[in-house]
This record gives sequence, structure tokens and C-alpha cells, in this order.
Amino acid sequence: RLLIIDFGSQVTQLIARRLRELNVYCEIHPYQNVTDTFLADFAPKAVILSGGPDSVTRDGSPRAPESLFTFGVPVLGICYGQQVMMQQLGGKVEGGKISGGGGTAEFGRAFVTPENTLGLLDGWFADGKEQVWMSHGDHVSALAPGFEVYGTSPNAPYAITADTSRNFYAVQFHPEVHHTPNGAKLYENFVKLAGFSGDWTMDAYREQAIEAIRAQVGDKKVICGLSGGVDSSVAAVLIHEAIGDQLTCVFVDHGLLRKGESDEVVAMFRDNYNMQFIHAEEQELFLGELDGQDDPETKRKIIGRLFIDVFQKYAGEIEGAEFLAQGTLYPDVIESVSFSGGPSVTIKSHHNVGGLPEKMGLKLVEPLRELFKDEVRALGRELGLPSSFIGRHPFPGPGLAIRCPGEITRAKLDILREADAVYIDQIRKHGLYDEIWQAFVAILPVRTVGVMGDGRTYDFACALRAVNSVDGMTADYYPFSHEFLGETATRIINEVPGINRVTYDITSKPPGTIEWE
Ligand code: XMP
Repeated sequence: RLLIIDFGSQVTQLIARRLRELNVYCEIHPYQNVTDTFLADFAPKAVILSGGPDSVTRDGSPRAPESLFTFGVPVLGICYGQQVMMQQLGGKVEGGKISGGGGTAEFGRAFVTPENTLGLLDGWFADGKEQVWMSHGDHVSALAPGFEVYGTSPNAPYAITADTSRNFYAVQFHPEVHHTPNGAKLYENFVKLAGFSGDWTMDAYREQAIEAIRAQVGDKKVICGLSGGVDSSVAAVLIHEAIGDQLTCVFVDHGLLRKGESDEVVAMFRDNYNMQFIHAEEQELFLGELDGQDDPETKRKIIGRLFIDVFQKYAGEIEGAEFLAQGTLYPDVIESVSFSGGPSVTIKSHHNVGGLPEKMGLKLVEPLRELFKDEVRALGRELGLPSSFIGRHPFPGPGLAIRCPGEITRAKLDILREADAVYIDQIRKHGLYDEIWQAFVAILPVRTVGVMGDGRTYDFACALRAVNSVDGMTADYYPFSHEFLGETATRIINEVPGINRVTYDITSKPPGTIEWE
């Protein structure tokens, strides 16, 4: 196994992700915990030193354990990790900006050119240079004995260095981020030269996660809020496999779900998996409080508050529960922290159950915290969840409330559910569901005149939405054919009473958002 010593970089998890993609098992441990004893017990086959915000020139700043450098395994230092290696091995690091020659603080894209050939760089420099992402204040000003330069950039004369006799490698940039397009290759070369065969899989992750859940929870009880979405579903099935009936799932039905959705969730988890399961049927409560509300943020706040109340009420009935399970993913953990560390404004207050664990005195179980969405899907497949669940488009916590701009009424919600079902059916029939990141119908707060047969109609208009996206942060509208759009509009108008006009939303994000509210 491979050990990643974490010096606090915001992107350390991305290193782990790159290694999982190479089917290499790794663990991240904060530098404070990695003592000489820890290292000896862990017995890694290779070690990666992450980046970090501190400066090695500061007294008391983080270090690697001294024994690492006599341990006899390959070491790769990244950014702060590079500087730690140089400092501890007898080189020199200087802080801040300096003028002329040496090196300067550097943030952003840079191009590295080769100085020498190196196994770590196999497949690099096909075009004579490689784009990399730099993010550092300090820089190495003198190499440690034994090290040589293998790549330079205009601002980083020691961009890639190595002591090949000891298998020590140190790079100034971040190969784990997408802004270093060929970075994955560097990790591939590193694990190859460290002797990893790449035989570690999601199946192994599952076993390890199950052990970790058992160790954390012991014989205590766990509550899990189930939404029917991929993340909470995979978390619930994984935890259920680990601790069986010590887990109780609470499914809050707020009356804002899609057609047939609540039956599917109940059938899947209560009947199929035979889980301890509470179906909190609170449609009246939610729809009652939402009645007449038309402001998007007010809707979200009401739903968020009621969700917590309801969850608390049902969870309170489960005696001896000490843990709350959440399907938190790694992007949720970093979402609010942009890569540059800059401030970000709240566009929409995404509803979640934040604050709930403290209020209820519960500890968190978050078995997906290290994973990305596609890895969660792979784990779900490994756990045998049906592909219809795993491949589902994302669905927002406030549900149909934010797809019903303007006042929410039960009548409008019913119409919306029917229209959405026809639209999704069309998408599936045309084999497009898996090609689209998210698709749904929004019912518009406007009625329009139409003519059907010999009669006049005065019904609602709706908008179809379909987008492609990687992470929901940006999105492009999906380029349906006119035939598809025409056929779908005809079906919706014929099959859904209450709608007589269909539009297609061709706004990308930005400047639009995916949802209408
Ligand atoms: P927007 O509309 O912000 O959506 O472009 C990006 C992604 O987030 C989902 N979304 C939400 N999810 N609570 C959620 O849990 C919310 O309040 C919320 N608002 C938007 C949206 O469906 C899309 O996948």
C-alpha cells in the first residue's frame, strides 16, 4: 500500500483519486500522525508528500518523519512536499518573491521543459513541453545532495528533480489537478517504479469501508436519511451490509417527489433490502407550509427547516441512536473552497441537514467522504444496486418545489409530475438517458391560450430542461434533434391535461442555472 502524508493541501484527495484510478490502494494520513513508529507499522511500499499551505522556512512548520528518508522506499514530494524533502535532506528553500533569476511565488499555469530523461517522465514531453499547475509561495533555491534537475519552468528552475539512486522524486507543481493535463501519467510512472501491480479494486474498497464502519460504530445504532438519490442509497446499502439492523433509514416524503418515486424507494429499501425503514409521510405538513409561497429562497428555507424537524421527530423514536449516516462525497467537502481559495458567493442556499448532528448530539458516519460521484456509482454497482438507481440523474433536495416557479399548488405539482414522467420516458425510449447529465420539466407560472380539436384551451406552459455537465458547476444545454423535441411536445400536450404549450430551455450555465429557481 501507498502512504500519502497530508500537509494540508486542498487537493490532497485528488492524489488519492489518481491512485485509485490506477487501482493502487492508498491511505491519506495527516503529517502530525505520521511518526517514525507509525511509518514502521504502516510499512508503505511508497510514500507521497502532499502540498500544503505552510512555509518550510517557518520554525515549527510541518515535517516528514526523519526515518522516511532511510526507509528505503520511493518518495514523491509535491509542492510543499518537495520543499520538505529539500529542507530535510540538506537543500535550501527560500520564501516569498525574489527578483531576478532564482524563482518567485507562482500561481497558475506554467510550462515545463525537460532537462534529462527520467523514468518518472515516461510519456511526458512528447511536444517538448508540458503544461503544469503551479501554486507556491516558497521555492527551492539549492538542491539537496544527490538530486539533479530533470525539468524546469521559467519561474521554477527546480520544477522536476530527483535522486534516482534513492528513488526520491520532487516536483514543484501539482500533477494531481486537471490543470496539469498529463499529470496522471506521472503518478502512473511513480507507482510502476514503486512496484505496484494495480490490482486493487472497488471490491476491495467495499471490504475496507465495511471494516471501517464496524470499527467506528461498534454495537451502537445508526440513522440514515434516505432520499432515493444515488449517494444516500449507496451509503445506506454499504452501512446495512456492515451492521445490518443496527441501521434505520428514514425516508422523508415531502410531497415534492417525482411520479412513482416514493413507491420505488420503499420497495427497494424496505422490501428488497429488508432494512429497518421509516417512511415519514409528511406531505401535508410540507405542502401546507409551502402553500402560497413563491420566493425561491423562502421555499428552500421552509423545506430545509421542516426537513430537520421531521427528521428529528422520527429519529428521536429510534432508541439509542448515536450516529447519523450521510452520503457526503468528496466534492461536497471541497465545494465551498475554490481551488484558488477565493471567496465564493451564495447563489442558492442548497438545502442539507447541516447543523442537525450537533443539535441531536449525533456523530457522523460518512463512508463516501473520499469518493467522487463516478466512484460512488462504481461502488453501488459493486454492492449490487440496480443500474436504474445508480444511473439516476441528480435530483435536488427541495424536489419539485424549485421546478414550479411562482406559487406551489398541489394541482400544479400533479401536472408537473405527469409531464416530467412523459419527458423522461421519451428520453429513455430514445436511448438518451445515460447521455444526459440531468433532465426535467419545470411548470411555468403562466397560462397560455391554445386550440385543441374545435375548442379553446387555457392551460399552463412548461419548459423542458436537459443539460450536460461534469459536476453541476457549469453546464451546456443538450442538443436534442427537432424531431425529438417535436414528438415530445406532442406527447406531453396530448397526454398531460393542464399543459397546452411546451418550450425547450437552451440556456447554459452560466449565465443560467440548471434548475429554474
Ligand atoms: P443549479 O440550479 O444551482 O444546480 O445550477 C446545480 C445542481 O444542484 C442541484 N440543486 C440542488 N440540490 N438542493 C440540492 O440538494 C438544492 O437546493 C439545489 N438546488 C439545485 C441541481 O438539481 C443541479 O443538479
